[in-house]
Amino acid sequence: MSGHDARPETDAHDSASNETGRAARFAPSRRDLMRTSASAAAAGLVAPAVLGAQSTSALAAPVASAAETLSGEVEIELSINGAQQKLKVEPRTTLLDALRNRANPPLTGSKLVCDRGNCGACSMNEGGKLVYGCLQLAVDARGKDVRTVEGLQQGDELSAVQRAFCEKDASMCGFCTPGFVMAITHCLENHPKADLERIKAACAGNLCRCGTQPHVFEAALSVVQGGAK
Ligand code: FES
Ligand code: FES
Repeated sequence: MSGHDARPETDAHDSASNETGRAARFAPSRRDLMRTSASAAAAGLVAPAVLGAQSTSALAAPVASAAETLSGEVEIELSINGAQQKLKVEPRTTLLDALRNRANPPLTGSKLVCDRGNCGACSMNEGGKLVYGCLQLAVDARGKDVRTVEGLQQGDELSAVQRAFCEKDASMCGFCTPGFVMAITHCLENHPKADLERIKAACAGNLCRCGTQPHVFEAALSVVQGGAK
């Protein structure tokens, strides 16, 4: 499976290296953008007039490309938890920021904690990959299905993973919980028979300051064993 954008979980699992898993797990597209922009500017590829232009709609461009120039506030359309939604964002707006502050209604399940790809509280699924929402650009999510913790339950019915977290008391302050739920959901969707080692590897990019990891792992294993009612 792939982890947070470009992390093959099997790699992390097989290497048993959390740090390696973390590094591969989260593609820092925000840093890539800055690096690309700096390179483009240095190479004279982006004209000042273009940089200053006010683009009002990016709907025609489903996926941002290296050659695409966006500036000012742009309107994009995203597939969020199965529904299409138009949002106004700046090119620099992160996917997490867009969902929490630009979506209607706001999707605040994914948490902003470290804002630098360390804690995993903002974990979400983008195009089938687990990503750190704080490191992804909203404009790069065009054309991809975005799923947040709000999209896991069916109506009033929680998902098996969500129920297991409740049953195994896998949350204290709760800031890390949505990220862990997304990481484990992604893991079990790809490895329904995951063992403890794989589950731990899947959570390598998620931190809990309250020390709930043992309960989190117990919850995940209970889903594997069909224990979640
Ligand atoms: S808020 Fe995104 S990894 Fe911590
Ligand atoms: S439950 Fe508090 S940080 Fe994890």
